[in-house]
Formats: sequence, structure tokens, C-alpha cells
Amino acid sequence: MVFPICIYGSGVLRAETENIAEGFEGLEKLVEDMFETMYDSDGVGLAAPQIGKALRLFVIDTTVVDEEGEEPKGLRKAFVNPEIYDFLGDEISCEEGCLSIPGIHENVMRPAGVRIRYMDEKMQPHDDTFDGFVARVIQHEYDHLEGKMFVDRLTPLRKTLLKGKLTSMSKGKYSASYKTKLIK
Ligand code: NI
Repeated sequence: MVFPICIYGSGVLRAETENIAEGFEGLEKLVEDMFETMYDSDGVGLAAPQIGKALRLFVIDTTVVDEEGEEPKGLRKAFVNPEIYDFLGDEISCEEGCLSIPGIHENVMRPAGVRIRYMDEKMQPHDDTFDGFVARVIQHEYDHLEGKMFVDRLTPLRKTLLKGKLTSMSKGKYSASYKTKLIK
């Protein structure tokens, strides 16, 4: 099932998120639906608040952006109740976009790597270190669970320049090629 994606200005994107309890009904189906929603909108990551659910859950699939002919290096994974407990390396700049903020792409500074504890969709615990593009996507999605979006991390100048566009977006003036919704 493809969910509509909540657009910038939707209250749920700023809401506090809850941990997923052991025995949470329908977790595997929810994860499957989130992957389906993400593929439908050509995203590489999707967090539960973006489909209107204030839960600590996100999915990523970076295999889709791997260069043709190369050994797949990307990662397809669900992160349940994740906790980033360490950042590694220098901060680097990389262009980001967000399915909840269609049409806007900006450079964002973030640490090169992360160490993260999380569970998978079968509630099995993991503790991993990631770097490169995967670490970038994880940090972006993790921010969604903290009620943050990449535009919050821009320089004051870029924020000022984007303010009008974001205000319009939160009033419904945007276009996207996938199903969206705006809920205050
Ligand atoms: Ni996003």
C-alpha cells in the first residue's frame, strides 16, 4: 500500500515520536508499505512521520543509486527504535532533498559516519557503523524522528532565501509527482 507523503507544514513532521513496543501489531506490513511508498516516490529513505505516523521507524534503500555494472554497495534496511550513539569523521557537505519538501535541494553539513543501535522489522537488535552515502541517508531520516528536517540545518542565509518558498509550501503551494497530503 502506498501512503500519501506529508508535506512541510504538516504537524506530524514536528511531533514527538514514540518507540515501537515489542509485539507491535503489523510491523512487518508497515515496513513493507513504507518501502513501497518510498519506491513509488523515487526516494532513498522514508521515516514514519512522513506518512503521518509519529513512530521511531525509518527505511532506506541506497542500492537504487549504485552505478550500473558495479557490485551493489548500497543498503536496504529498516531501522526500528534507532539510536545514533556516535558520530565519526569530519563534517562534510552533500546535497540533500526530502520527499516532504518537494523541489528543494540544498547542501547540508553532516559528520561522515555514524554508529547506530537499532532493531530490524523482526525486532532483532543490531549495532553497526556506517559511512558514505548510507550514513548521510541515515542521519537525514533519523532527524525526522527528532522532528527535524534538513532545511533546519542550512546556513542563516540559505534559510532566509528559502523562507518564502517554505511558507508557500506549508499553505499547499507545491507540486509533487507522487501522492501527498498536508495536515496541520
Ligand atoms: Ni526527508
